[in-house]
Amino acid sequence: MLEGKTVVVGVCGGIAAYKVVEVVSRLKKLNADVNVIMTENAAKFVTPLTFRSIAHNPVITDMFDEPKEWDIQHISLATKADVIVVAPATANIIGKVANGIADDMLSTTIMASKAPVVFVPAMNTNMYENPIVQDNIKKLSERGYIFLETETGRMACGTVGRGRLPEPSAIVESVSELVCSKCDLKDLKVLITAGPTQEPIDPVRFISNKSSGKMGYAIAAQASKRGAKVKIISGPVNLKTPCGVEVIGVKTAHEMFSEVMKSYEDFDVLIMVAAVADYKCANTSDKKIKKKDDNLTIELVKNPDIAKELGKVKGNRILVGFSAETNDLINNACEKLTSKNLDLIIANDVTQEGAGFETDTNIIKIIKRDGNILDFPIMSKTEVGDRILDEVLALLRKDYY
Ligand code: PMT
Repeated sequence: MLEGKTVVVGVCGGIAAYKVVEVVSRLKKLNADVNVIMTENAAKFVTPLTFRSIAHNPVITDMFDEPKEWDIQHISLATKADVIVVAPATANIIGKVANGIADDMLSTTIMASKAPVVFVPAMNTNMYENPIVQDNIKKLSERGYIFLETETGRMACGTVGRGRLPEPSAIVESVSELVCSKCDLKDLKVLITAGPTQEPIDPVRFISNKSSGKMGYAIAAQASKRGAKVKIISGPVNLKTPCGVEVIGVKTAHEMFSEVMKSYEDFDVLIMVAAVADYKCANTSDKKIKKKDDNLTIELVKNPDIAKELGKVKGNRILVGFSAETNDLINNACEKLTSKNLDLIIANDVTQEGAGFETDTNIIKIIKRDGNILDFPIMSKTEVGDRILDEVLALLRKDYY
């Protein structure tokens, strides 16, 4: 329920504007106080009267309308808002905000507000993929603006590709989670590695493992919901980017190592969930290797140990590692906790049903440096994420006070 929460919905001029009527209706059913601001072009697609009838609030279209109350409207809504949702977010509004332009009621309200702003882009595929639009999205994401991922499908213009507005139910779910979640990780910066790495053998083959990225992405999603600024350095996975999270895609362990080293100084918490290949091919063939003899020997050489290298330079940062084991869980995990200079290690026995790779659940033990072990039953990876973040928070609070 969104009782007592003010949601400002900014509607821009795009064909998907009609879908936002349902977003407003769903927000109202959750008892939110919904205030709609429409751009001039939005009002050409859907009338303000439609939104007014559903939101039960005046719809603002013009900055210079006679104010209904003695508040300056864009300032009063900007201050009142618990969240601002911009849907459909056009290339135009994204470009304006990214470049500090405030020339209508919506851009002015966004600029004057300290509330979280969720952009829900919807536009023609080529436009969405245009590097200028992507640069603006990146710039705003880095400043803490949240972007929901567009969906792929047939567009109103007939093309098939990325750029469709997500379903109204998904938009409302993201907004509700954002408004209702506890913000105990606000101002914290969390860097996470996730997924597998792929070590090439030749142009068509590689060495990899079964990691789906689900565990790392679940921690990232929970950290973001709890107010943290989150970046994932991710191996190849087939998962949606969690709301508000920045993802840097890599393939090899070396690429992951180099991205982590570029970023870690800007972060307070480093959580190493990725299943990084310990070895890579000594020589990668630039041509597809042909079948010849009965045996083929591939020489492997060690990859950098990202967690271990971070352990040497981490300073006051909290460094969390995972330990994927098939035997001797506690001893192996404790050895990694010490040798990699970790603050916590999350041990999972990947032979257990419902634990480890690819599943939506995990069974973990959190091992602390003082030898304390927290033993958990089977939980969703989302819950596991929250329990790990609770322990990180406890460590931070201990250091602080
Ligand atoms: O992705 P999912 O399908 O959801 O699966 C989740 C998971 C099983 C991958 C996850 O729960 C997990 O256990 N991740 C760690 C996997 C692993 O590689 O563990 P390890 O024991 O080999 O490595 C120990 C720690 O060192 C890990 O934090 C690992 O990220 C890190 N490491 C390892 C090798 C290396 N070269 N660099 C590293 O940073």
